[in-house]
Amino acid sequence: MNFSKHILVTGGAGFIGSHVVRRLVRNYPNYLIVNLDKLTYAGNLENLNDVAAAPNYRFERADICDAAALQRIFDAHQITDVIHLAAESHVDRSIEGPMEFVMTNVVGTVQLLQAARASWGNETNHVFHHVSTDEVYGSLGDTGLFEESTAYDPRSPYSASKASSDHFVRAYYHTYGLPIKMSNCSNNYGSHHFPEKLIPLMIHNIIENKPLPIYGKGDNIRDWLWVEDHASAIDAIFHNGRIGESYNVGGLNEWTNLELVHYLCRCMDDKLGRTAGTSAELITYVTDRAGHDKRYAIDACKLSTEIGWQPSVTFEEGLSKTIDWYLANQDWVSKVTSGAYQEYYEKMYIGR
Ligand code: NAD
Ligand code: DAU
Repeated sequence: MNFSKHILVTGGAGFIGSHVVRRLVRNYPNYLIVNLDKLTYAGNLENLNDVAAAPNYRFERADICDAAALQRIFDAHQITDVIHLAAESHVDRSIEGPMEFVMTNVVGTVQLLQAARASWGNETNHVFHHVSTDEVYGSLGDTGLFEESTAYDPRSPYSASKASSDHFVRAYYHTYGLPIKMSNCSNNYGSHHFPEKLIPLMIHNIIENKPLPIYGKGDNIRDWLWVEDHASAIDAIFHNGRIGESYNVGGLNEWTNLELVHYLCRCMDDKLGRTAGTSAELITYVTDRAGHDKRYAIDACKLSTEIGWQPSVTFEEGLSKTIDWYLANQDWVSKVTSGAYQEYYEKMYIGR
């Protein structure tokens, strides 16, 4: 079959990547979708069971730091476009061990840029879409929003590595004319989210009747977006965004961590048939994250006015769907929380 585009999606077995792959495979049967993933602790091919047999889907296990593997994959699949999500993504792990973040997020991104440049030369009918984070902008005070023009001010090893990768992507546009696009999104939540991040960890611990660890006072603020709305934004920017431009993605949905966990506890009490207030008794205050960014909040006006993107669900709807998915997929949770996860959990939380 002739495909009109051959899109390489990196990190497609992870949380956001699997939603992007599923959306592209289903909505664009005329595109070949090649999922490149190293399958680290965060990557799980079962996230894509429902599209794995589709005629327009391929999987390649590879490390984005491996230049020879990238060249082979670009050649073998005649890659025309890239949507780059592969990364080490957890701030707490970056504090424990920054080097993996430098390798994958910085060196891996540059290797991918090199592979695209070698394969596409000076042709401009391609897109290299780099998926990044609002954390590159640093930390907000009580007011204001991150705009695309906000100066970069990363504070954690994770955000410093993502900021560095963003700078390299822009440098390849300005220096070599590589046709790039970028998006910087706020905190995502939804199905298939590894239970090390706040929302899936809390859902998992509530089900298991384990402590709910709140860092510091719980007054840090995050701006939450349903992962399928992030996938729809990536689709919209990939197709309709301007070359060389960055787009912020977010849903104007700020919560303090403590308010959010209390709300989650109320929803879970209801869904689990527990007496109101039962799950909130599990809340435990623990030592704060080092260098903990106070507040993130996104201004997504450029994306909505230029491209017409809007989120499709309210937080209440998205969170309800998310909890239902975890309750219905406890076998997935058991699988990803076996083995190395226990060691991680004990190291990060026991006695904290
Ligand atoms: P994730 O940790 O769930 O998934 C990352 C995926 O990348 C995994 O499948 C992993 O196996 C793969 N990977 C890691 N190192 C690799 C390597 N060297 N080579 C090939 N594959 C490798 O991450 P996520 O939360 O889905 O985030 C995806 C992207 O979106 C990241 O670039 C992240 O910075 C960005 N982002 C995430 C959020 C969020 O809230 N999760 C928000 C904004 C932006
Ligand atoms: O803003 C986008 C970023 O959001 C992405 O770039 C990152 O990849 C993603 O991991 C996420 O980063 P955060 O650090 O904001 O997410 P996390 O879920 O780790 O934490 C959310 C907030 O909850 C943060 O203020 C720390 C707090 N927290 C987290 C955990 C895991 C707790 O209080 N307790 C916890 O156990």
